[in-house]
Amino acid sequence: MNFKIDQQRLNRELDTLASFSADPAPAVTRVVFSEQDLAARAWIKERFREAGLTMRDDAVGNTFARWAGANPDLPAVGTGSHIDAIPHAGKFDGTVGVLGSLEAIRALQAAGFKPRRSIELVLFTAEEPTRFGIGCLGSRVISGSLTPAADVQLREASAGPEGHGQTLESVRKSAGFTGSLDSALLPQNYFSAFIELHIEQGSILESEGVSVGLVSDIAAPAAFHIVIEGEGGHAGARLMPGRKDALCAAAEIILAVERSVLATGATDTVGTVGICQVHPGAMNSIPSRVQLSLDLRDTDAARRDAALEQIHNACGEIASRRRVAIKLETINADAPAQSSPEIVKALKEACDAEAVSYRTMVSRAYHDTLFMARLAPVAMMFIPCKGGVSHRPDEYSSPEQIHQGVKVLARVLAGLSAI
Ligand code: GLV
Ligand code: MN
Ligand code: MN
Repeated sequence: MNFKIDQQRLNRELDTLASFSADPAPAVTRVVFSEQDLAARAWIKERFREAGLTMRDDAVGNTFARWAGANPDLPAVGTGSHIDAIPHAGKFDGTVGVLGSLEAIRALQAAGFKPRRSIELVLFTAEEPTRFGIGCLGSRVISGSLTPAADVQLREASAGPEGHGQTLESVRKSAGFTGSLDSALLPQNYFSAFIELHIEQGSILESEGVSVGLVSDIAAPAAFHIVIEGEGGHAGARLMPGRKDALCAAAEIILAVERSVLATGATDTVGTVGICQVHPGAMNSIPSRVQLSLDLRDTDAARRDAALEQIHNACGEIASRRRVAIKLETINADAPAQSSPEIVKALKEACDAEAVSYRTMVSRAYHDTLFMARLAPVAMMFIPCKGGVSHRPDEYSSPEQIHQGVKVLARVLAGLSAI
């Protein structure tokens, strides 16, 4: 089958999508359910409509855009990604998978292809944890990986250690996504296959000069809050002996995280403290309370959990030596996911047919596909990004690199929707 990807249209659309941003270009900041996110969704839905896709939104704000197949009762072939962007991000993370899938569908339509199974493009809500502190919110909800209580338990990340924002329920409803969270659950036979196209966010493909990465496994992510309660006081009048400085304890914890992660000896174990909120946050006041975030990942969940145990022990030792209270709260600790060998085989065949070079690889970043794997056989394809840079304004994949990924995606969607 011959089809043609309109790369210029896709480039233009990626540029337009990037313009829905709370920060000036080249930075892209598009937090879920923000004014910019809602405007971007409205614009993108217009593109879905132009392509003749039928649309529905679910209660958490995932959008499903469907190209009906000749046999619409069969489980559909799913594809898609996210368009939310962390503060000061770039324009390719997630968006290549959404607009690339749309372009793949339009190319197949223009070539006169008629799918037997429907092809459904999913725009996932809040893949990024920025607003509600948990990643892959939309895919967690549809795969039943969150209890409905999450609607009131998940709150906007606080601006300070003790302030809490609005609940997920109130924010999503104000954004126009009503209904109960459990109404968004999808049945096991909803998708026959799910494929996500994404930038690699690492530098393996670029350094090896390979066009496409076929993901075999997605690493197991986990996220925690660590809250340290010490004792505040006057920075001048209170002498050093006997202080219970929460930030000094936090500094030791951060280094214990690094030590525990390095101690596994595996390059696949990674740990990051990315947020440190200090209370009261005044120059002349001893920190009384600190909240840290901890992001811990590994391809091997047991090894990740062993590193966590080490961090736990270090927290206990630091707490008793410094006479502070340390609490470690789990936000999520997810299992890894594996790609379906059948879909990976179909992807390899599509790469061969399109003369696109590929290699298999692990995804160390998490993606909505991690949760889609609980509903359907899945696979992911990566394209290179310059210097492996992502989550930064200078994130970049060339039109040619995107083109290689989208044409393989189009071919594999055609193949999977025909069987
Ligand atoms: C996704 O953005 C991740 O942090 O892996
Ligand atoms: Mn991201
Ligand atoms: Mn992403």
